Amino acid sequence: MASSAPNNNTNNNLPLKPIPGSYGLPFLGPLHDRHDYFYKQGRDEFFATRIQKYNSTVIRTNMPPGPFIAHDPKVIALLDAASFPILFDNSKVDKRDVLDGTFMPSTAFTGGYRTCAFQDTTEPEHSLLKSFFLHILSSKHNTFLPLFRSLLTDHFNNMEESLAGKSKEASYNTSIGAAAFTFIFRLLTDKDPNTTVIGSEGPKLVETWLGAQLAPLATLGLPKIFNYVEDVLIRTVPFPAWAVKGSYNKLYEGVSTAGTAVLDEAEKLGIKRDEACHNLVFMLGFNAFGGLSNQFPILIKWIGLAGEGLHKQLADEIRTVVRDEGGVVSLAALDKMTLTKSVVYEVLRIEPAVPYQYAKAREDLVVQSHDAAYEIKKGEMIFGYQPFATKDPKIFENPEEFVGHRFIGDGERLLRNVFWSNGREVDEPTADNKQCPAKNLVVLLCRVYLVEFFLRYDTFAFDWKPLVLGPTVTIKSLTKCSNF
Ligand code: HEM
Repeated sequence: MASSAPNNNTNNNLPLKPIPGSYGLPFLGPLHDRHDYFYKQGRDEFFATRIQKYNSTVIRTNMPPGPFIAHDPKVIALLDAASFPILFDNSKVDKRDVLDGTFMPSTAFTGGYRTCAFQDTTEPEHSLLKSFFLHILSSKHNTFLPLFRSLLTDHFNNMEESLAGKSKEASYNTSIGAAAFTFIFRLLTDKDPNTTVIGSEGPKLVETWLGAQLAPLATLGLPKIFNYVEDVLIRTVPFPAWAVKGSYNKLYEGVSTAGTAVLDEAEKLGIKRDEACHNLVFMLGFNAFGGLSNQFPILIKWIGLAGEGLHKQLADEIRTVVRDEGGVVSLAALDKMTLTKSVVYEVLRIEPAVPYQYAKAREDLVVQSHDAAYEIKKGEMIFGYQPFATKDPKIFENPEEFVGHRFIGDGERLLRNVFWSNGREVDEPTADNKQCPAKNLVVLLCRVYLVEFFLRYDTFAFDWKPLVLGPTVTIKSLTKCSNF
């Protein structure tokens, strides 16, 4: 049923089946699955082989990290676009403490608080904190474009300098990571991190702090002989928060001193000042920097892989619209760039930056795949592997192919099946749901990135390799714009 109407509606005629799959023997089963997942098969093959084996896109399996970090690694995995959206239904699923999956890092990483992203919608504090975030973002609406555009100028200059230097190449991740950190810090506080104790170390401080929390979910992709050593080292006992306290404290102090205005706002809303500050650090470091510093390399990777043909089409569209608008890059101008918009959605579809979502069944419930219905018991952990939902061949034609114009015109109806933000692309984040509050900001930033890039360059050459949780991109050349 390729590319026909999105098939997510309840169908009462589907047969009710038991969920196939296996958790294996206690202790050994989770270790076996974890080894398959990280080292023997890799995550796509891990799920693909199990779909085949059990002839189902809803299966039982263990998810890493397993023993001894997670006491219960058992999940019900949703691997298609029909079943996945149950994870967005807050009346049916509980999102308490499941941000990182089957384990939760110590709250010592976050000043003793369970920050907003760990809270369920039934917790009053979630709604209070989420309202605060949504309020900050909407009040900064007029800052997004000028601030991001000026930081992109620095980012492009910085890459050009590196290309002109000895190595003749530029580390894309380092350059865009610095821009992303400064953007969010300035957006939240109106101050440059360089004027605080953070200095230019923001990305490094966040990466140290994040690395200690998320290490059990990662692999460095080392040669095979190191696999067991790596596995034992990072998945037996959690990294203690005190080991990265120095980095975290610097981030906290930076936000606390630069963010007096926004912290005053939080107090007015009834949030304790230190709780607000820990939440801002978490949003800045984990949600925003963690998301964006992965998203932009994903964006440039897919644009690069698509080749010069697409670069020319994007440059033509962007330059024509900007020329027609008298040289101004405004929100109205961005809205007229239909290919640019569609390309960004296609990137978000083909490689969602946060590929996993978890939730626990609030009650006994029934989830439907395209061809069967399955019962899930109250308290069972549900896990969605998003790339398999947004590359579901029953929804998207040629799902593995990057199709830049996929979401133009009639294709827009497929946007309801783009899930990167922990919600449908046609839905909006609210204080009462768990959708990313920066959903529209992220789409905007990706579009502005492409606009500024193709106003300045015709095309580029690059290399990339997968590393830990996303691609590492090296820019090899940037060809300056020839006709604008
Ligand atoms: C490309 C970048 C980003 C991606 C891919 C992303 C993705 C997500 C996802 C998938 C979730 C839900 C996690 C879950 O519950 O399973 C989420 C939540 C959240 N995101 Fe984003 N995000 C990004 C950028 C941002 C930015 C820039 C901000 C803030 C300025 C932000 C703030 C948040 C917050 C506060 C939550 C928790 C929402 C809640 O608890 O209701 N994110 N994000």
